[in-house]
Amino acid sequence: MEKLVIEGGARLSGAVQISGAKNAALPILAATLLTEEKCVITNVPVLRDVQTMIKILRSLGVRVQMQDSRITVCPAEYEGHTAPYRLVSTMRASICVLGPLLAKQAFARVSLPGGCVIGPRPIDLHLKGLSGLGARIKVEHGYIVASGKKLRGGRIYLGGPFGSSVLATANVMMAATLTPGMTIIENAACEPEIVDLADFLVKMGARIRGQETPAIEIEGVKELHGAEHRIINDRIEAGTYILACAITAGEITVKGACIAHLGALIDKLRDAGVVIRNSGDTILVKAGRKLRPVDITTLPFPGFPTDLQAQTMALMCTADGISIITEKIYPERFMHISELNRMGARIMKEGASAIIKGAPELSGALVMASDLRASAGLVLAGLAASGKTDISRIYHLDRGYRQMEEKLSRLGAKIWREKE
Ligand code: EPU
Repeated sequence: MEKLVIEGGARLSGAVQISGAKNAALPILAATLLTEEKCVITNVPVLRDVQTMIKILRSLGVRVQMQDSRITVCPAEYEGHTAPYRLVSTMRASICVLGPLLAKQAFARVSLPGGCVIGPRPIDLHLKGLSGLGARIKVEHGYIVASGKKLRGGRIYLGGPFGSSVLATANVMMAATLTPGMTIIENAACEPEIVDLADFLVKMGARIRGQETPAIEIEGVKELHGAEHRIINDRIEAGTYILACAITAGEITVKGACIAHLGALIDKLRDAGVVIRNSGDTILVKAGRKLRPVDITTLPFPGFPTDLQAQTMALMCTADGISIITEKIYPERFMHISELNRMGARIMKEGASAIIKGAPELSGALVMASDLRASAGLVLAGLAASGKTDISRIYHLDRGYRQMEEKLSRLGAKIWREKE
């Protein structure tokens, strides 16, 4: 196992290039199962989760080649229909092969994902949506078994207690592309990754309207063909570097970031006193030593992203006053609080909210990463803390951040990887 070691205190400066978006790449790779022709996907981040998706495609009989950030997928005559527990249990996003397999093969067996440290993550909306298209769905021996030779488009409402669902929208949209008739997904997710997936599906010959809105219309076609697509850049990675700059009172440029994907974060950071300017896809960030506290509520896009909650909490630990962060997507996504408190933060959890009293200083400590974004929050805290921070279990970070320590080192951070 490896750990990250950070010697805190360096102000970040320079430029960082953002990589392709993991959460766009995963459903887009799954969508290649809808055709038999070759697809070429570029700007794919080389990450553990992407490798897991490639393993799933290969286990289904699909030929996949990866050359740096370019993936060629040849699904010609693949026959598999099972996504096994050993792969699904390491990555919940594996669920997004369910819709494509059902639509293309009329049969899919996908392992139930199991527990998740960020709280309960049910899949009822995925199943409701696919049942709404006429699929027969059973859960047996730990697997979702979906079948249906005669699917039919319809009006499907996909809202749950926490609003829309990103991957349920992806699953139903993918299945609906090959389902006869018109499907309308109501309360659909509007995340940029859903729009990117829809753009790829349209390149494959799908008929989709209203992506970017909560009512996506899909008119089923007989077949989809191969296509080439460049994945959008990762808004969560961009947001993480913007926050890393702010927590070190640095000045950096973030290249390859789409400002329209980062509205909620930028608005809050400006309220906190961070200077943010953009020109095209480059964002300049400049922050002073003491920021103002801000209150944040995570919500589906275009609201504040839950995937930046832990990193923003780390920043608020160093602000001048009290801030409140409320989780409206994953009310239990607060595993990082106790680790941040070990570094001198003063955070209290109250239901689905965290009350953060800005501390005069964070101090380096041994801490443990619990999930991907919590790990990023601890890295940010380590950059600002006095002394040395050791973060163990950083395999979580490798699931979602491409070369994080290299990118941060180039910005002047003192950060390196060691064997534990
Ligand atoms: N939900 C249900 N029923 C369902 C599905 C979801 O109640 O059938 C609930 C969830 O429990 C949650 C809310 O709906 O409260 C939203 O979850 P969503 O389904 O949108 O999450 P997801 O699609 O499984 C994706 C990202 C997550 C990100 C969430 C929210 C991918 C691969 N994953 O997950 O990313 O947090 O959307 O934006 O796209 C990460 O990258 O670290 C990560 C966890």
